[in-house]
Amino acid sequence: MKVADTVATMREALRLVNRPLGFVPTMGGLHEGHLALIRRAQRENSTLAASIFVNPAQFGPQDDFSTYPRDMTSDLAILEDEGVDLAFTPSTGEMYPDGFDTRVEVGALSDCLEGKSRPGHFRGVATVVCKLLSIVRPDRAYFGRKDLQQTVVVKRMTADLNLGAEVVVTPTVREPDGLAFSSRNAYLNPKERAAAAVLHLALRTAARLRGEGVADPRRIREEMEKLIAREPLAAVDYVSVADPESLEELDTIDGPAVASLAVWIGKTRLIDNLSI
Ligand code: PAJ
Repeated sequence: MKVADTVATMREALRLVNRPLGFVPTMGGLHEGHLALIRRAQRENSTLAASIFVNPAQFGPQDDFSTYPRDMTSDLAILEDEGVDLAFTPSTGEMYPDGFDTRVEVGALSDCLEGKSRPGHFRGVATVVCKLLSIVRPDRAYFGRKDLQQTVVVKRMTADLNLGAEVVVTPTVREPDGLAFSSRNAYLNPKERAAAAVLHLALRTAARLRGEGVADPRRIREEMEKLIAREPLAAVDYVSVADPESLEELDTIDGPAVASLAVWIGKTRLIDNLSI
């Protein structure tokens, strides 16, 4: 595996690779969710690139940038084991050198849900993903359904800016109790870890109600909130029942819908979603 920590060395390493080239951007803290993306990209492409970059631009001032799990040595060993050909591990200064002054802003899709709770988050995501895709120029880029809004924002940007990569979205990978793998799960103590199962329980409740024919999103949101309220370590940030493409809240469910939520478990904020 070739490891490049500058844009110039990454570009040089990419010059003669066999196509198609698959690319998996990450912030490290690698877990089974990341591995599912890497393995899918491995199967579908001749060359596989991945990046590890904890992107300060997508963290707000109150967010966990300084404590975000970082273990470059172990992450690189995992990428190597998985057969990644090229790992891109830029420093903050390499991605945002002095004088950097451009932002990529995706419109309405960035303002709801996560964007409402975390103003500027998707500006940071879109900017860094745009830069990464411009540096790597993959044929396919892989993103997890766990961050549904991110996939919608990235697809919009990739199409609008003609970035030329196919955006592939892969299913959420979960622990046996349903908790979605996330680098942030590392923050949870054992009691919080047990409590965190409530996110998936709430989503399953939404799916069950929908299956029973409930078409009123308010009723579904209320039941989700009630269930989460019964878990003393959990506090709801938002619950939503929205159109999976426009992400607009639904008045009534008469087609595809996605339930999503953000919940604080102690000081850790977790998100998840499920088609219902
Ligand atoms: P990160 O949180 O490291 O996630 C990297 C990729 O793994 C994302 O596409 C995310 O959706 C996916 N992923 C995370 N947990 C998953 C799970 N349980 N199942 C399936 N996929 C999962 O998302 C980011 O980094 C950043 O915002 C990034 C796109 C790298 C831009 O900085």
